Amino acid sequence: MNNFDQRRRSICVSLLGGLASMAITGVVKAKPTVDEAAKVFRLDGGAVTYAFGVNPDGRLQTVYWGSSLSPADQLSAPVPVPDNSSNEMSITVTPFEFPGFGGGLTVEPALKVTFPDGVRDLDLRYVDHQVSGDRIVVRLKDVSRAVHVTLNYSMDAATGVLSRSAVVENRSADWIQIDQLAAASFNLPYSDDYQLSYLTGRWAGEFALQTRPITPGATVIESRKGVTSHQANPWIAVNRRGTEEESGPVWFGALAWSGSWRISVDMDSLGGLRATAGYNPFDFAYRLKPGERLASPAFHAGFSNEGFGGASRLFHRYQRTRILPGAPTLRPRPVLYNSWEATEFAVDEAGQMVLAEKAASIGVERFVVDDGWFGARNDSRAGLGDWFVNAKKFPNGLAPLIKRANDLGMEFGLWVEPEMVNPNSDLYRAHPDWVIHFPGRARSEARDQLVLNLARKEVYDYLLHALDRLLTSNNIAFLKWDHNRAWSEPGWPAVAPAEQQRLYVAYVDNLYKLLAELRRRHPHIEIESCASGGGRVDLGIMALTDQVWVSDNTDPYDRLLIQDGFSHAYAPAIMMAWVTDAPNFVNQRVTSLEYRFLSAMQGSLGVGANLNHWSSDDFTKAKQLIAAYKVIRPTVQQGNLYRLVSPRGGSARSATLSVAQDGNQAVLFAFLHSGGMRDAQPYIQLRGLDPAKEYTLRMISGSVAPKTPNKASGAYWMGQGIKVSLEGDFQAAAVVLDAL
Ligand code: GLA
Repeated sequence: MNNFDQRRRSICVSLLGGLASMAITGVVKAKPTVDEAAKVFRLDGGAVTYAFGVNPDGRLQTVYWGSSLSPADQLSAPVPVPDNSSNEMSITVTPFEFPGFGGGLTVEPALKVTFPDGVRDLDLRYVDHQVSGDRIVVRLKDVSRAVHVTLNYSMDAATGVLSRSAVVENRSADWIQIDQLAAASFNLPYSDDYQLSYLTGRWAGEFALQTRPITPGATVIESRKGVTSHQANPWIAVNRRGTEEESGPVWFGALAWSGSWRISVDMDSLGGLRATAGYNPFDFAYRLKPGERLASPAFHAGFSNEGFGGASRLFHRYQRTRILPGAPTLRPRPVLYNSWEATEFAVDEAGQMVLAEKAASIGVERFVVDDGWFGARNDSRAGLGDWFVNAKKFPNGLAPLIKRANDLGMEFGLWVEPEMVNPNSDLYRAHPDWVIHFPGRARSEARDQLVLNLARKEVYDYLLHALDRLLTSNNIAFLKWDHNRAWSEPGWPAVAPAEQQRLYVAYVDNLYKLLAELRRRHPHIEIESCASGGGRVDLGIMALTDQVWVSDNTDPYDRLLIQDGFSHAYAPAIMMAWVTDAPNFVNQRVTSLEYRFLSAMQGSLGVGANLNHWSSDDFTKAKQLIAAYKVIRPTVQQGNLYRLVSPRGGSARSATLSVAQDGNQAVLFAFLHSGGMRDAQPYIQLRGLDPAKEYTLRMISGSVAPKTPNKASGAYWMGQGIKVSLEGDFQAAAVVLDAL
């Protein structure tokens, strides 16, 4: 047996059960099970088992992660992988749960620290554990120094999604600097056929799904921007060769953090795969005084044997039932109107009143005034920071417009960008030191604005006061909370140099605190997370916001791709999509109003068009489609999503299906990019229906092939499918099946 096989065998033995030193019987789902003698910990939930244990050296090692094991399966205590050679020492090829940087560790550490005497060696060993409810808490400590780490594990009983996080505590008499901290390391045993999926993008081009084989070396996806970022999103999925949309194993997870983050997926030199997710170590340094602690963000990780579709349905359910405000019972997203693409900064009382009346006439439920209503805000160059109603544009304040919207049966919402300031603002003139900056150095502007240092108490207090006043004095139901630039010159000169890099954590902590406090004071407020489109979508912000703006790109075809990528990680329940004007401002593409509606109706519907330019036919069509949307809304927003035909890879056709949780309704959206060559119309086979139920078919828009039955069993619609008639360019159809 060569070294490689040895490594493979020892991992298989420890991961998959081998000879038991313990027996776990009578596992109650989602209740952690602990073998006290062998120190093996097991979590079961949904169709998933996760297990880890203490190895003979006292280090925590992964035992198993995948489809549910039998309660009777006996899991051995883990053993370290032996040295492969003097170049692959045991410590660097053993699948640890939370490796400290120390010894010969050359793979990604979960924790790296510097001590005042220059030592940078950490050796974390098991101390004790506690089980309470669905949670396992394991405490580790360095072999000789007073660095204590608490690891938290809990698994959702319904979905098997595991949540992991870590807290580091300095119990020494001097400072300790944390150079790197992750929520967790996740390990999968050797295989030569892993593939990684992740999401990348840019402004107006978010959520592009990338896939690549996992080979020796690391793939690092990250944001160094102080915010989640468009460029990469903190979600990953790992599959095996042969995994498809609806079959095969997929391990997936996402980091709940809205600042700079990093996920490293590496395959060590012996083929072990590990994913490490946490604060981005780039420019990171967090000094803990004696007695202080630092918590990592949480990483939420799941597994499905039902392909990418199964994985995303599980994760959507987890977000709806465990993460979002109001979970597990979410309020349906109201159909909103937003003024941005119609008027940009030129908002005023009279103009918005006209738009509000027109919006109400088509069935809009929430009217939102975007940028331009405050301070000296006539373009991007002034006003940010001055959260006072602009008296020229709204001489009577917002009250008359809000009243008009309310009288028309709509809630009122407002755009804010609290974390930013224009140098041309009263706030900046009064407090130029409130921005993130280095003294004596340039302050790089982007979109004419600077980033306020929300880590500062004065900034936090100012924003809480300004927003609280706004919400207290106006009947505002909704805030669109924007963040339009990445950080630069990340200094915090008001604190000592050794404290300054706390900014990366303290800023985001205060952002979360601010959102939580506003929600506490105004329990009926709903909030949208926006950052120049989809630059701040993650499970951290999602716990405090009700919906997200996915992209400034509202072109309905580009959106099919963006929404497809988005849906791999995040739920349609929060995915806002607007119908805007054609030609679209992003790419000048011209599409029909129906096509624009059907693209946006796959998520949470909004309208962002200039209604002053609409014809009476447009109003009629919009009214009819919005009414139809309200009937299918629970299914689309909170049902199970099946990506039947992907728009990726230049596919001319695409289709999604949403099936209500009770299986009584299904909504099929089908799109054609461009037809040609007298292409035949394919059948689209549905999924997720109850085969025994009868479903009637009706069209929201478009048509199906002649002789399509208007009533058939779930088995028929899944077996035979539906031929949707689509011809021409940028065509769409929407079909509803209702159980009898
Ligand atoms: C960002 C948002 C847009 C709009 C503008 C307003 O770009 O993504 O939707 O709100 O800001 O300035």
